[in-house]
Amino acid sequence: MLNIKDAVAVITGGASGIGLALAHYWAKQGGKLVLGDIAETPLKEAAEQIRGETATVVCDVTQEADCERLAATAIERFGKINLVAPFAGIIKDGLMLKIEKTGKVTGKMPIEDFRSVININLTGVFLTVRECAEQMINHDCTGLICLISSTGSLGTAGQISYSATKAANSVMPRVITAEFFRRNVAHRIRCLAVAPGYVGTPMVRSMPQRVQDKIVEQVPIGRLIEPEEVAAFVGELFRNEALAGDVFFIHGGLRLGSKG
Ligand SMILES: NC(=O)c1ccc[n+]([C@@H]2O[C@H](COP(=O)([O-])OP(=O)(O)OC[C@H]3O[C@@H](n4cnc5c(N)ncnc54)[C@H](O)[C@@H]3O)[C@@H](O)[C@H]2O)c1
Repeated sequence: MLNIKDAVAVITGGASGIGLALAHYWAKQGGKLVLGDIAETPLKEAAEQIRGETATVVCDVTQEADCERLAATAIERFGKINLVAPFAGIIKDGLMLKIEKTGKVTGKMPIEDFRSVININLTGVFLTVRECAEQMINHDCTGLICLISSTGSLGTAGQISYSATKAANSVMPRVITAEFFRRNVAHRIRCLAVAPGYVGTPMVRSMPQRVQDKIVEQVPIGRLIEPEEVAAFVGELFRNEALAGDVFFIHGGLRLGSKG
């Protein structure tokens, strides 16, 4: 079992929602933090709220140089990386085609909307993980790369871009674990994904209330998941070294599209 005390976590999307909750949880357990986010002011405020050793890096995860800088900061400041949590992500929901009652198509999802979700949720995750894993390997670190998928990975109407990126995030732990296994690294650097259902963060709370009400109707525990519940789950996934190469759901019993 691994211990969080003095372990170093690199968290992107660390200024809000699940990333911020994980940062608080990690610091409370005595861990050290490198928080990355594109939102400069919220990132600064997050670091001020969190007690403990925290470095911040204003970064855009779609930019290779920013991700290099993020990983390098962890090594310069703390000499190691033990947890990589590439949680920066966005949604830009919409239908691929707007089909009117007449049966005709009157609109299409703009390619810019589709690309922006792919760039942040998929390319950004790849870059963050590649840069941090390089540092972990070269500095003999032990720990976990914890991607964040979603129940959306199973396919949600109105989320073609988001669902596609989250399905990709679900398969990456298998690829990375297999690659590390081949090179005798998998015993010390594990990779897995946590896949939450609907979590009460700005991402979900910014949806219209009627959409949120419909969502909660589908959740057997009758509420959104708390970001702190996801954070504590990531802590358990970090500690337990038997967990690797798979996707672990936390969704309050949700089954997409039906009440079971
Ligand atoms: N909220 C949910 O219901 C839910 C469910 C499953 C998975 N997730 C995933 O959890 C992760 C965090 O989601 P959240 O709900 O906490 O969202 P959030 O909107 O509260 O936080 C996302 C953070 O990412 C940052 N960010 C966005 N683009 C960035 C970029 N290019 N570079 C760096 N930072 C950037 C934002 O500034 C923000 O601080 C996402 O990957 C999301 O897909 C969320």
